[in-house]
Amino acid sequence: MSGTSRQQAARPLALPGLERGTLLPPEDHIPQVQAALLDWFAAHGRPLPWRVDYTPYEVWISEVMLQQTQMDRGVLYFTRWIRRFPDIAALAAASEDEVLRLWEGLGYYSRARRLHAAARRIMEHRGGVFPSTLPDIRALPGVGAYTAAAVASIAFNTPVPCVDANVERVLARVFNVDSPVGQAPGAERIHHLAERLLPEGKAREHNQAVMELGALVCGKKTRCGHCPLAPFCLARHHDVVRLRPVPGKKTAVTPLVTAVGVLRHGGRILMQKRPAAGIWGNLWEFPGGAVEDGEDPQEALLRVFQRETGFKVRPACRCGVIRHGYTTYRIVMHCFGLRLAGTNGESADEEGECPPAPPSSAPVRERRWVTPEEPAAMPLPAPHRKLAERIAASGMRC
Ligand code: ADE
Repeated sequence: MSGTSRQQAARPLALPGLERGTLLPPEDHIPQVQAALLDWFAAHGRPLPWRVDYTPYEVWISEVMLQQTQMDRGVLYFTRWIRRFPDIAALAAASEDEVLRLWEGLGYYSRARRLHAAARRIMEHRGGVFPSTLPDIRALPGVGAYTAAAVASIAFNTPVPCVDANVERVLARVFNVDSPVGQAPGAERIHHLAERLLPEGKAREHNQAVMELGALVCGKKTRCGHCPLAPFCLARHHDVVRLRPVPGKKTAVTPLVTAVGVLRHGGRILMQKRPAAGIWGNLWEFPGGAVEDGEDPQEALLRVFQRETGFKVRPACRCGVIRHGYTTYRIVMHCFGLRLAGTNGESADEEGECPPAPPSSAPVRERRWVTPEEPAAMPLPAPHRKLAERIAASGMRC
């Protein structure tokens, strides 16, 4: 931040010819609002890695990663991703397991699977060239209205507004939108305002400016003293900044109690790949399932494990409880060491070949007996990663 811009940001109400505390209604002053945003972004925009060359591939990856992800974390994952997959061809050539492993920890894994599918499609049908028009970008797997608008405007300067939660918050406050922004009629009003506010030829900078302002100044915690739009802000004028945006319906949190088993045999552990559809699609896991209300977790596991894998097992030990919040779920995962039923021996590893899994009706794509080292390179859901690390740290004793 330069000294001059810091001063400008600290005195937002001292615009030429404007009395302190006077309001400029934003709809009557669109050019001034646009200019204030662009000046502010030029001075305060963060030097993010994809803002150097604005290549379509990098902008696309960043936008998909930043959905549901904090910026610091996004930058970390982005940097690692680009090092491993510097371009569309490298991403398309990778295995899905590797793509998911690199995504591990970001959640919403369908985003990674669709990035991978889109990269393969671009290689196959577009000669490796990223599409440049809004409809063609929108047609890529995993690209919704927001992502298409963000990539088209930021990578190609296409004149289209983009509206994410940051933009909704800024516009709801500046224009004092008094109904929830996530549903009609609030959502329509926000889109209309976003279109009106878009300056000609400046979509790239403008869209990023509004998002950045929402992230750095007009957040849940407000910093109105630093806001370039303070002289125009209707919510501020009416002293309702804290009440904007008007909240919509809260998503309910679902408690989920599960039991999983670490089945060991011949120095290996049984793992299975989850089906593509649903939570944690195509990630690897320790087999198990839901514990019903009032059911004992170990009993639930013995019931579910055989149905899932086909193996008859007996419990060998308890290896703790892992708690984890994921999207709208609050997960409690009970973990048990298991042995194949009918094998003798106590805590020592049973010897012999790992038997193939008997047929099972469960929707599981693949099962594998893995060495203790293998899970480190496999994509696992966060609570299963914690369990894998526990097992590794305990020297596979359970
Ligand atoms: N959040 C999502 N996309 C963003 C972007 N391009 N700039 C700032 N914040 C963002």
